[in-house]
Amino acid sequence: MTQDDRPVVQALEDRRSCAGFRPSSVGLDEICSIAEVAGLAPSELDLQPWRVHVAQGSALDRVCSALLESNVAKARAAGTALVLSGDTATVDDSPVAARFYENRSRRDFVLRNVSMYLMAFMLVAESRGLATRPMAGFDEEALSAVCGFAPTQFPVAVLLIGASDGRQPGQRGRRLDPAVMVVRLGDGAHR
Ligand SMILES: Cc1cc2nc3c(=O)[nH]c(=O)nc-3n(C[C@H](O)[C@H](O)[C@H](O)COP(=O)(O)O)c2cc1C
Repeated sequence: MTQDDRPVVQALEDRRSCAGFRPSSVGLDEICSIAEVAGLAPSELDLQPWRVHVAQGSALDRVCSALLESNVAKARAAGTALVLSGDTATVDDSPVAARFYENRSRRDFVLRNVSMYLMAFMLVAESRGLATRPMAGFDEEALSAVCGFAPTQFPVAVLLIGASDGRQPGQRGRRLDPAVMVVRLGDGAHR
């Protein structure tokens, strides 16, 4: 770790999925500012297929109707749910990408790239003192209808964002040993 990468490592160490939100309302300016920095995330052919849909108030109620029951109370407590979407039609913005994805999954393209953005977004939010929780527990069809998505667009994740009520998350799960995670091709695990 060098002097320069310390803040990123710190944000990675500090970020946890918020165990409890207290009522707050994150301003649209703040969300835009985080979205802009997170937009430095890498993407295939720099196509940046991500969009952030902000749900508060009655829009949050509608988003909640598409969440798994176990996620609804968390979303209501947070007060703000962001729906991160991607559009498979983005591939057509580049002739090179359109050719490459002719016989490949455009859905994979969206999932890979929007996930990069999601992680960046959470780290920037963390560094600004905001608590987050990413969620995949939603009905994709229902959430797409709530957000008015085009047929080529779909939600990749819901991100709750707000203020922590101070409740501590449980112990982190076991982290994988690098000897398991890192596999040198040719001779299996490197240990
Ligand atoms: C792709 C993804 C989907 C997730 N879906 C949910 C969810 O639907 N509901 C929820 O409460 N947490 C969800 N989580 C949060 C995980 O439970 C959490 O990240 C994991 O337990 C590790 O804890 P940590 O984020 O505090 O390190 C999700 C996380 C990821 C990355």
